[in-house]
Amino acid sequence: MSILITNIKELVQVRDSNVTIVKGSDMKQLPTLKNAYLFIDHDTIVEFGKMEDLSGIHADETIDATGKTVLPTWCDSHTHIVYAGDRTQEFVDRINGLSYEDIANRGGGILNSAEKLQNSSEDELYLQASNRLKKVIKLGTGAIEIKSGYGLTVEAELKMLRVIKRLKQDFPIKVKPTLLAAHAIPKVYKDNKKGFIDLVVNEMIPAVSKEQLADYIDVFCEKGYFDLEDTKRVLEAGIQNGLTPKIHVNQFNAFGGVALGVEHKALSVDHLEELVPEDIKALKNSKTIPVALPACSYFLSIPYTPARQLIDAGLPLALATDYNPGSTPSGNMNFVVSAACIKMKMTPEEAINAATINGAYAMDISNMYGSICRGKKANIIITKEIPSYHYLAYAFGDNHIETVIINGQIY
Ligand code: NIG
Ligand code: FE
Repeated sequence: MSILITNIKELVQVRDSNVTIVKGSDMKQLPTLKNAYLFIDHDTIVEFGKMEDLSGIHADETIDATGKTVLPTWCDSHTHIVYAGDRTQEFVDRINGLSYEDIANRGGGILNSAEKLQNSSEDELYLQASNRLKKVIKLGTGAIEIKSGYGLTVEAELKMLRVIKRLKQDFPIKVKPTLLAAHAIPKVYKDNKKGFIDLVVNEMIPAVSKEQLADYIDVFCEKGYFDLEDTKRVLEAGIQNGLTPKIHVNQFNAFGGVALGVEHKALSVDHLEELVPEDIKALKNSKTIPVALPACSYFLSIPYTPARQLIDAGLPLALATDYNPGSTPSGNMNFVVSAACIKMKMTPEEAINAATINGAYAMDISNMYGSICRGKKANIIITKEIPSYHYLAYAFGDNHIETVIINGQIY
Protein backbone atom coordinates (compact mmCIF):
# COMPACT_ATOMS: atom_id res chain seq x y z
CA MET A 1 0.00 0.00 0.00
CA SER A 2 1.40 3.40 -0.98
CA ILE A 3 -0.01 6.89 -0.50
CA LEU A 4 0.90 10.09 -2.34
CA ILE A 5 -0.17 13.33 -0.64
CA THR A 6 -0.17 16.19 -3.13
CA ASN A 7 -0.62 19.99 -3.14
CA ILE A 8 0.30 20.25 0.55
CA LYS A 9 0.05 23.91 1.52
CA GLU A 10 2.93 23.48 3.97
CA LEU A 11 4.84 20.34 4.93
CA VAL A 12 6.14 20.95 8.44
CA GLN A 13 9.13 19.57 10.37
CA VAL A 14 11.17 18.41 7.39
CA ARG A 15 14.52 17.13 8.68
CA ASP A 16 17.64 15.17 7.84
CA SER A 17 18.03 11.83 9.57
CA ASN A 18 20.80 13.02 11.88
CA VAL A 19 18.55 15.52 13.68
CA THR A 20 17.28 13.65 16.75
CA ILE A 21 16.89 16.55 19.19
CA VAL A 22 16.71 20.35 18.92
CA LYS A 23 18.02 22.59 21.66
CA GLY A 24 18.07 26.22 22.72
CA SER A 25 17.80 28.81 19.96
CA ASP A 26 17.59 26.03 17.31
CA MET A 27 14.13 25.27 18.67
CA LYS A 28 12.91 28.46 16.96
CA GLN A 29 13.68 26.87 13.57
CA LEU A 30 10.95 24.68 12.16
CA PRO A 31 11.94 23.69 8.63
CA THR A 32 9.04 23.50 6.17
CA LEU A 33 8.34 23.09 2.46
CA LYS A 34 5.53 25.02 0.83
CA ASN A 35 3.43 23.56 -2.01
CA ALA A 36 4.81 20.11 -1.39
CA TYR A 37 4.16 16.41 -1.88
CA LEU A 38 4.83 13.45 0.40
CA PHE A 39 5.15 9.83 -0.73
CA ILE A 40 4.63 6.96 1.70
CA ASP A 41 5.23 3.31 0.86
CA HIS A 42 4.07 0.65 3.34
CA ASP A 43 4.95 2.12 6.76
CA THR A 44 7.76 4.39 5.62
CA ILE A 45 8.26 7.97 4.43
CA VAL A 46 10.00 7.43 1.12
CA GLU A 47 10.12 10.81 -0.59
CA PHE A 48 8.94 14.39 -0.38
CA GLY A 49 9.62 17.62 -2.18
CA LYS A 50 8.15 20.59 -4.01
CA MET A 51 5.10 19.91 -6.23
CA GLU A 52 7.01 21.31 -9.20
CA ASP A 53 9.57 18.50 -8.79
CA LEU A 54 7.01 15.71 -8.54
CA SER A 55 7.33 13.21 -11.36
CA GLY A 56 7.29 9.48 -11.91
CA ILE A 57 5.64 8.51 -8.62
CA HIS A 58 2.63 6.19 -8.87
CA ALA A 59 0.78 5.42 -5.66
CA ASP A 60 -2.15 3.16 -4.76
CA GLU A 61 -3.93 6.15 -3.26
CA THR A 62 -3.58 9.90 -3.78
CA ILE A 63 -4.74 12.46 -1.21
CA ASP A 64 -5.16 16.04 -2.37
CA ALA A 65 -4.09 18.28 0.54
CA THR A 66 -4.84 21.64 -1.08
CA GLY A 67 -5.00 24.30 1.66
CA LYS A 68 -3.90 21.80 4.31
CA THR A 69 -0.87 21.50 6.54
CA VAL A 70 0.95 18.18 6.95
CA LEU A 71 3.15 17.39 9.92
CA PRO A 72 4.52 14.39 11.84
CA THR A 73 2.20 12.95 14.51
CA TRP A 74 2.68 14.10 18.10
CA CYS A 75 5.07 12.17 20.33
CA ASP A 76 3.59 12.12 23.84
CA SER A 77 6.42 11.06 26.15
CA HIS A 78 4.57 11.13 29.49
CA THR A 79 1.18 9.54 30.21
CA HIS A 80 -0.60 7.39 32.75
CA ILE A 81 -3.50 6.25 30.55
CA VAL A 82 -4.04 2.91 32.29
CA TYR A 83 -6.31 3.83 35.19
CA ALA A 84 -9.70 2.87 36.56
CA GLY A 85 -12.65 5.24 36.57
CA ASP A 86 -12.09 8.91 37.26
CA ARG A 87 -11.59 11.41 40.09
CA THR A 88 -14.40 13.85 39.35
CA GLN A 89 -15.32 14.13 43.05
CA GLU A 90 -11.82 15.39 43.87
CA PHE A 91 -12.11 17.84 40.97
CA VAL A 92 -15.22 19.30 42.59
CA ASP A 93 -13.55 19.24 46.02
CA ARG A 94 -10.68 21.30 44.62
CA ILE A 95 -13.11 23.81 43.12
CA ASN A 96 -14.63 24.10 46.59
CA GLY A 97 -11.27 24.98 48.12
CA LEU A 98 -9.25 21.85 48.87
CA SER A 99 -5.75 21.60 47.39
CA TYR A 100 -4.19 18.60 45.59
CA GLU A 101 -2.10 18.17 48.74
CA ASP A 102 -5.13 18.33 51.08
CA ILE A 103 -6.82 15.60 49.04
CA ALA A 104 -3.72 13.40 49.10
CA ASN A 105 -3.32 13.93 52.86
CA ARG A 106 -6.80 12.63 53.58
CA GLY A 107 -6.05 9.42 51.63
CA GLY A 108 -7.44 10.52 48.24
CA GLY A 109 -5.45 11.27 45.12
CA ILE A 110 -3.13 8.54 43.89
CA LEU A 111 -4.28 6.22 46.71
CA ASN A 112 -7.86 6.66 45.55
CA SER A 113 -6.90 5.63 41.99
CA ALA A 114 -4.81 2.75 43.36
CA GLU A 115 -7.79 1.32 45.23
CA LYS A 116 -9.96 1.53 42.12
CA LEU A 117 -7.25 -0.07 40.00
CA GLN A 118 -6.59 -2.90 42.44
CA ASN A 119 -10.31 -3.73 42.29
CA SER A 120 -10.44 -3.76 38.47
CA SER A 121 -9.68 -6.72 36.25
CA GLU A 122 -6.99 -6.64 33.60
CA ASP A 123 -9.69 -6.78 30.91
CA GLU A 124 -11.63 -3.84 32.38
CA LEU A 125 -8.44 -1.79 32.54
CA TYR A 126 -7.55 -2.75 28.99
CA LEU A 127 -10.97 -1.66 27.74
CA GLN A 128 -10.80 1.74 29.43
CA ALA A 129 -7.21 2.39 28.38
CA SER A 130 -7.80 1.31 24.79
CA ASN A 131 -10.70 3.76 24.50
CA ARG A 132 -8.40 6.54 25.70
CA LEU A 133 -5.70 5.44 23.28
CA LYS A 134 -8.09 5.42 20.30
CA LYS A 135 -9.16 8.94 21.20
CA VAL A 136 -5.64 10.33 21.40
CA ILE A 137 -4.60 8.71 18.13
CA LYS A 138 -7.49 10.52 16.44
CA LEU A 139 -6.12 13.70 18.05
CA GLY A 140 -2.81 13.08 16.28
CA THR A 141 -0.68 11.14 18.74
CA GLY A 142 1.51 8.59 16.95
CA ALA A 143 3.86 7.52 19.74
CA ILE A 144 3.21 7.37 23.46
CA GLU A 145 4.88 6.50 26.72
CA ILE A 146 2.58 4.85 29.30
CA LYS A 147 3.40 4.48 32.98
CA SER A 148 2.26 2.08 35.64
CA GLY A 149 2.08 3.51 39.17
CA TYR A 150 -1.53 3.09 40.27
CA GLY A 151 -0.90 -0.49 41.36
CA LEU A 152 1.31 0.10 44.40
CA THR A 153 1.60 -3.67 44.93
CA VAL A 154 3.79 -6.05 42.93
CA GLU A 155 0.73 -7.85 41.60
CA ALA A 156 -1.21 -4.71 40.61
CA GLU A 157 1.83 -3.08 38.98
CA LEU A 158 2.35 -6.24 36.92
CA LYS A 159 -1.34 -6.12 35.97
CA MET A 160 -0.98 -2.52 34.74
CA LEU A 161 2.15 -3.32 32.78
CA ARG A 162 0.52 -6.34 31.17
CA VAL A 163 -2.28 -4.03 30.02
CA ILE A 164 0.34 -1.71 28.51
CA LYS A 165 1.94 -4.73 26.80
CA ARG A 166 -1.41 -5.65 25.24
CA LEU A 167 -1.94 -2.06 24.05
CA LYS A 168 1.53 -2.18 22.53
CA GLN A 169 0.69 -5.39 20.68
CA ASP A 170 -2.80 -4.38 19.55
CA PHE A 171 -2.31 -0.76 18.46
CA PRO A 172 -0.32 0.47 15.48
CA ILE A 173 1.31 3.39 17.31
CA LYS A 174 4.62 3.14 19.15
CA VAL A 175 4.11 2.42 22.86
CA LYS A 176 6.92 2.73 25.42
CA PRO A 177 6.21 1.24 28.87
CA THR A 178 7.48 2.68 32.16
CA LEU A 179 7.47 1.14 35.62
CA LEU A 180 6.45 4.01 37.90
CA ALA A 181 7.48 1.96 40.89
CA ALA A 182 7.33 4.62 43.60
CA HIS A 183 4.31 6.86 42.93
CA ALA A 184 2.83 7.11 46.44
CA ILE A 185 3.28 5.39 49.78
CA PRO A 186 0.58 2.70 50.03
CA LYS A 187 -1.71 2.85 53.08
CA VAL A 188 -0.30 -0.35 54.57
CA TYR A 189 3.21 1.15 54.46
CA LYS A 190 2.07 4.52 55.88
CA ASP A 191 4.53 4.33 58.78
CA ASN A 192 7.07 2.15 56.99
CA LYS A 193 8.21 3.89 53.83
CA LYS A 194 11.50 1.99 53.94
CA GLY A 195 9.56 -1.27 53.89
CA PHE A 196 7.83 -0.17 50.69
CA ILE A 197 11.10 0.84 49.04
CA ASP A 198 12.50 -2.57 50.03
CA LEU A 199 9.53 -4.19 48.30
CA VAL A 200 10.07 -2.07 45.18
CA VAL A 201 13.79 -2.79 45.04
CA ASN A 202 13.77 -6.47 46.02
CA GLU A 203 10.55 -7.69 44.43
CA MET A 204 8.75 -5.29 42.14
CA ILE A 205 11.62 -4.20 39.91
CA PRO A 206 13.08 -7.72 39.48
CA ALA A 207 9.60 -9.16 38.69
CA VAL A 208 8.92 -6.50 36.04
CA SER A 209 12.36 -6.92 34.56
CA LYS A 210 11.99 -10.71 34.44
CA GLU A 211 8.81 -10.37 32.35
CA GLN A 212 10.43 -7.58 30.29
CA LEU A 213 7.43 -5.36 30.86
CA ALA A 214 9.15 -1.97 31.07
CA ASP A 215 11.86 0.10 29.41
CA TYR A 216 12.00 2.86 32.02
CA ILE A 217 11.98 3.32 35.78
CA ASP A 218 10.12 6.28 37.27
CA VAL A 219 9.76 7.77 40.76
CA PHE A 220 7.61 10.63 42.08
CA CYS A 221 10.44 12.56 43.72
CA GLU A 222 8.50 15.04 45.84
CA LYS A 223 7.94 16.18 49.43
CA GLY A 224 5.44 13.85 51.10
CA TYR A 225 6.18 11.14 48.51
CA PHE A 226 9.77 10.02 47.87
CA ASP A 227 12.90 11.91 48.90
CA LEU A 228 16.33 11.95 47.25
CA GLU A 229 17.52 8.88 49.12
CA ASP A 230 14.42 6.84 48.17
CA THR A 231 14.68 8.02 44.57
CA LYS A 232 18.34 7.04 44.38
CA ARG A 233 17.65 3.53 45.70
CA VAL A 234 14.82 2.95 43.23
CA LEU A 235 16.71 4.36 40.26
CA GLU A 236 19.79 2.32 41.02
CA ALA A 237 17.76 -0.87 41.37
CA GLY A 238 16.06 -0.03 38.07
CA ILE A 239 19.38 0.56 36.32
CA GLN A 240 20.74 -2.74 37.67
CA ASN A 241 17.71 -4.42 36.10
CA GLY A 242 18.20 -2.79 32.72
CA LEU A 243 15.72 0.11 33.09
CA THR A 244 16.54 3.71 32.19
CA PRO A 245 15.41 6.46 34.58
CA LYS A 246 12.69 8.96 33.61
CA ILE A 247 11.45 10.81 36.67
CA HIS A 248 8.68 13.00 38.09
CA VAL A 249 10.53 15.85 39.70
CA ASN A 250 10.06 19.49 40.85
CA GLN A 251 6.25 19.43 40.50
CA PHE A 252 5.73 21.25 43.79
CA ASN A 253 9.22 21.57 45.32
CA ALA A 254 12.79 21.83 44.00
CA PHE A 255 15.30 20.05 46.24
CA GLY A 256 17.93 18.44 44.05
CA GLY A 257 15.96 15.79 42.18
CA VAL A 258 16.97 17.14 38.78
CA ALA A 259 20.69 16.79 39.55
CA LEU A 260 20.04 13.30 40.93
CA GLY A 261 18.27 12.35 37.70
CA VAL A 262 21.09 13.72 35.56
CA GLU A 263 23.64 11.89 37.73
CA HIS A 264 21.78 8.64 37.01
CA LYS A 265 21.67 9.42 33.27
CA ALA A 266 17.90 9.89 33.23
CA LEU A 267 16.52 10.09 29.70
CA SER A 268 14.13 12.79 30.89
CA VAL A 269 13.17 14.83 33.95
CA ASP A 270 9.48 15.67 33.85
CA HIS A 271 7.25 18.39 35.38
CA LEU A 272 9.71 21.12 36.55
CA GLU A 273 6.95 23.56 37.45
CA GLU A 274 9.40 24.65 40.15
CA LEU A 275 12.89 25.36 38.91
CA VAL A 276 16.03 26.76 40.56
CA PRO A 277 19.29 27.83 38.85
CA GLU A 278 21.04 24.65 40.10
CA ASP A 279 18.59 22.58 38.03
CA ILE A 280 19.55 24.39 34.84
CA LYS A 281 23.21 24.00 35.71
CA ALA A 282 22.73 20.26 36.24
CA LEU A 283 20.97 19.84 32.90
CA LYS A 284 23.62 21.68 30.87
CA ASN A 285 25.98 19.34 29.01
CA SER A 286 23.82 16.35 29.91
CA LYS A 287 21.83 14.03 27.65
CA THR A 288 18.77 14.38 29.91
CA ILE A 289 15.85 16.24 28.35
CA PRO A 290 13.48 18.36 30.46
CA VAL A 291 9.78 17.67 29.80
CA ALA A 292 7.01 20.20 30.49
CA LEU A 293 3.38 19.21 31.11
CA PRO A 294 1.31 22.40 30.70
CA ALA A 295 -2.08 20.63 30.77
CA CYS A 296 -1.23 19.53 34.33
CA SER A 297 -0.43 23.13 35.32
CA TYR A 298 -3.70 24.22 33.74
CA PHE A 299 -5.81 21.61 35.50
CA LEU A 300 -4.21 22.01 38.95
CA SER A 301 -3.70 25.79 38.66
CA ILE A 302 -0.03 25.44 39.55
CA PRO A 303 2.87 27.33 37.90
CA TYR A 304 3.84 26.51 34.32
CA THR A 305 7.31 25.11 33.68
CA PRO A 306 9.54 28.11 32.91
CA ALA A 307 10.19 27.14 29.32
CA ARG A 308 11.90 30.41 28.45
CA GLN A 309 14.51 29.94 31.18
CA LEU A 310 15.26 26.42 29.96
CA ILE A 311 15.36 27.18 26.24
CA ASP A 312 17.19 30.49 26.66
CA ALA A 313 19.84 28.59 28.63
CA GLY A 314 20.46 26.54 25.48
CA LEU A 315 18.61 23.45 26.69
CA PRO A 316 16.15 21.27 24.77
CA LEU A 317 12.55 20.95 25.94
CA ALA A 318 9.84 18.38 25.21
CA LEU A 319 6.10 18.74 25.76
CA ALA A 320 3.80 15.92 26.87
CA THR A 321 0.26 15.55 28.20
CA ASP A 322 0.66 13.69 31.55
CA TYR A 323 -2.77 12.16 30.78
CA ASN A 324 -3.95 10.77 34.17
CA PRO A 325 -7.08 10.87 36.35
CA GLY A 326 -5.75 13.19 39.06
CA SER A 327 -3.77 16.04 37.56
CA THR A 328 -4.51 15.91 33.81
CA PRO A 329 -7.62 14.09 32.59
CA SER A 330 -6.81 14.95 28.97
CA GLY A 331 -4.52 13.41 26.39
CA ASN A 332 -4.88 16.15 23.82
CA MET A 333 -1.44 17.15 22.49
CA ASN A 334 -3.02 19.93 20.42
CA PHE A 335 -4.13 21.61 23.63
CA VAL A 336 -0.65 21.09 25.10
CA VAL A 337 0.94 22.85 22.11
CA SER A 338 -1.52 25.76 22.44
CA ALA A 339 -1.04 26.04 26.20
CA ALA A 340 2.75 26.05 25.76
CA CYS A 341 2.46 29.03 23.40
CA ILE A 342 -0.18 30.88 25.37
CA LYS A 343 1.03 30.24 28.91
CA MET A 344 4.73 29.42 28.59
CA LYS A 345 5.64 31.93 25.88
CA MET A 346 6.97 29.28 23.55
CA THR A 347 6.74 30.18 19.88
CA PRO A 348 4.66 27.82 17.70
CA GLU A 349 7.94 26.62 16.17
CA GLU A 350 9.37 25.79 19.60
CA ALA A 351 6.16 24.12 20.74
CA ILE A 352 5.89 21.94 17.61
CA ASN A 353 9.55 20.92 17.92
CA ALA A 354 8.94 20.11 21.60
CA ALA A 355 5.86 18.00 20.80
CA THR A 356 7.39 16.06 17.89
CA ILE A 357 11.14 15.50 17.56
CA ASN A 358 11.97 16.29 21.21
CA GLY A 359 9.04 14.20 22.46
CA ALA A 360 10.45 11.35 20.39
CA TYR A 361 13.89 11.93 21.94
CA ALA A 362 12.27 11.66 25.41
CA MET A 363 11.19 8.12 24.43
CA ASP A 364 14.49 7.29 22.72
CA ILE A 365 12.79 6.82 19.35
CA SER A 366 13.76 10.01 17.53
CA ASN A 367 15.75 8.03 14.97
CA MET A 368 12.39 6.72 13.63
CA TYR A 369 9.71 9.18 14.81
CA GLY A 370 9.10 12.90 15.26
CA SER A 371 9.96 14.42 11.89
CA ILE A 372 9.29 14.22 8.17
CA CYS A 373 12.41 12.38 7.13
CA ARG A 374 13.13 9.79 4.44
CA GLY A 375 13.20 6.33 6.05
CA LYS A 376 11.25 7.29 9.15
CA LYS A 377 7.90 5.79 10.11
CA ALA A 378 5.01 7.25 8.12
CA ASN A 379 3.10 8.72 11.07
CA ILE A 380 1.44 11.81 9.66
CA ILE A 381 -1.17 14.42 10.53
CA ILE A 382 -3.12 16.09 7.73
CA THR A 383 -4.98 19.15 9.03
CA LYS A 384 -8.22 20.65 7.80
CA GLU A 385 -7.80 23.77 5.67
CA ILE A 386 -6.03 26.21 8.00
CA PRO A 387 -4.09 29.40 7.20
CA SER A 388 -0.77 28.15 8.66
CA TYR A 389 0.72 25.92 11.34
CA HIS A 390 0.57 28.89 13.72
CA TYR A 391 -3.19 28.50 13.60
CA LEU A 392 -2.93 25.06 15.30
CA ALA A 393 -1.68 26.76 18.46
CA TYR A 394 -3.66 29.96 18.05
CA ALA A 395 -7.21 28.68 17.54
CA PHE A 396 -7.11 26.57 20.69
CA GLY A 397 -9.88 24.16 21.61
CA ASP A 398 -10.89 23.36 18.03
CA ASN A 399 -9.94 20.12 16.36
CA HIS A 400 -7.92 21.09 13.29
CA ILE A 401 -7.00 17.52 12.36
CA GLU A 402 -8.67 15.89 9.38
CA THR A 403 -6.66 12.70 8.84
CA VAL A 404 -4.16 10.72 10.89
CA ILE A 405 -1.88 8.21 9.17
CA ILE A 406 -0.15 5.62 11.35
CA ASN A 407 2.48 3.29 9.90
CA GLY A 408 1.39 4.33 6.43
CA GLN A 409 -2.31 3.55 6.99
CA ILE A 410 -5.18 5.98 7.46
CA TYR A 411 -6.39 5.54 11.05
O1 NIG B 1 2.27 13.32 36.91
N1 NIG B 1 2.63 13.77 40.12
C1 NIG B 1 2.51 12.57 40.09
N2 NIG B 1 1.77 11.82 39.29
C2 NIG B 1 0.78 12.31 38.38
C3 NIG B 1 -0.52 12.59 39.01
C4 NIG B 1 -1.00 11.47 39.82
C5 NIG B 1 -2.43 11.57 40.26
O2 NIG B 1 -2.84 12.57 40.87
O3 NIG B 1 -3.12 10.58 40.01
C6 NIG B 1 1.31 13.50 37.63
O4 NIG B 1 0.81 14.63 37.74
FE1 FE C 1 2.90 12.15 35.46
